[in-house]
Amino acid sequence: LLYFAFHSAGLSDAVAAALQADLGLVSFVAADDSGVAFESADLADRIARLPYLRNCFEVLARAPRRDLDQVGSDLIQRLRAGRFPSPRPGSGFRIMAHIDGTLIGIAPQTRQRLEKAIALSIGGRAEPRGGGTEYWIIGRRDIPDVFLGRRLPRPAQAKPAPGQLAAELAALVVRVGGCDADDVVLDPFGGSGALLRARAALPHRRLIYSDLDLKVHSAALGDLRRQPDSLVLGEDATALPSLESGSVTRIITDPPWGEFESELGPYEEFAEAVWKSFDRVLRPDNSRATMLIGRRPSKLMIHAALARGFVITSSYDLLVNGHPATLFVAGR
Ligand SMILES: C[S@@+](CC[C@H](N)C(=O)[O-])C[C@H]1O[C@@H](n2cnc3c(N)ncnc32)[C@H](O)[C@@H]1O
Repeated sequence: LLYFAFHSAGLSDAVAAALQADLGLVSFVAADDSGVAFESADLADRIARLPYLRNCFEVLARAPRRDLDQVGSDLIQRLRAGRFPSPRPGSGFRIMAHIDGTLIGIAPQTRQRLEKAIALSIGGRAEPRGGGTEYWIIGRRDIPDVFLGRRLPRPAQAKPAPGQLAAELAALVVRVGGCDADDVVLDPFGGSGALLRARAALPHRRLIYSDLDLKVHSAALGDLRRQPDSLVLGEDATALPSLESGSVTRIITDPPWGEFESELGPYEEFAEAVWKSFDRVLRPDNSRATMLIGRRPSKLMIHAALARGFVITSSYDLLVNGHPATLFVAGR
């Protein structure tokens, strides 16, 4: 089965690794900065539940990228030749074209011909106002084929609060660098708890949350507190007095980026204090820290990590809510 999925921009290598780890057999057909087409024997509802993918589609037909009307004709031919299980009788559908990241209009005649072809080959009836199945024509600048995909229904996600990481991005960040059932995971700049919440879904031994501003976040942390083997602290990440030296195997964190926080003092000194503290609490061997940080302060954070003897094992440039950021893993 062929699928197409959108994901957070800049993390295609991380998405490919996560798909390979999570799905039985996967082969990649095409990919760009924020989308991937892949074949997998896994069923659509399993693909739709992968937490790091955004919109997922089961691909019903593909055609070489050309003018949208010509693509429409090619897709209609493929639909006529294909065999599809029928959806529930009478179910409504609508067609949209998503080309190079933007929804664009489809010429009325092409739309009508496509609607007819879908109704005949797959079933259902066109319902322009939506509410039923969505068929998307997906074109990407760097992918030579255009896909016609059925959008897979996904579990509803709560909209992230301001400053909170989106659940899809958090799900990727916690997978970068791997995970182990024995991991004692710390987020010392925990905020809303998005990263530990995402990590809780993967095997672990212990989850430790800390944030200097625990009072602000406390009300939102009920689910984390209820996790067996979780610990919630309100300590300074540069000290962490409750944690014994060498007691943590994985740090996964999104510290202040130094843009608004004047109380941090000079960022270079803050970065040094952070990595001194990480150096102390992390186990001396086989431990790692994953950090998501603004592109500019990332230089100082990486410098401070290297100065403490860490090695950068992977690094990705991405956008977080439109802001340039870097995600890196430091290990030892
Ligand atoms: C970028 S936010 C983390 C956002 C979080 N990833 C989320 O999705 O909600 C940084 C957090 O670090 C906390 N913080 C700032 N300085 C700190 C320090 N020295 N020690 C511990 N936490 C600190 C802030 O209160 C804030 O919640």
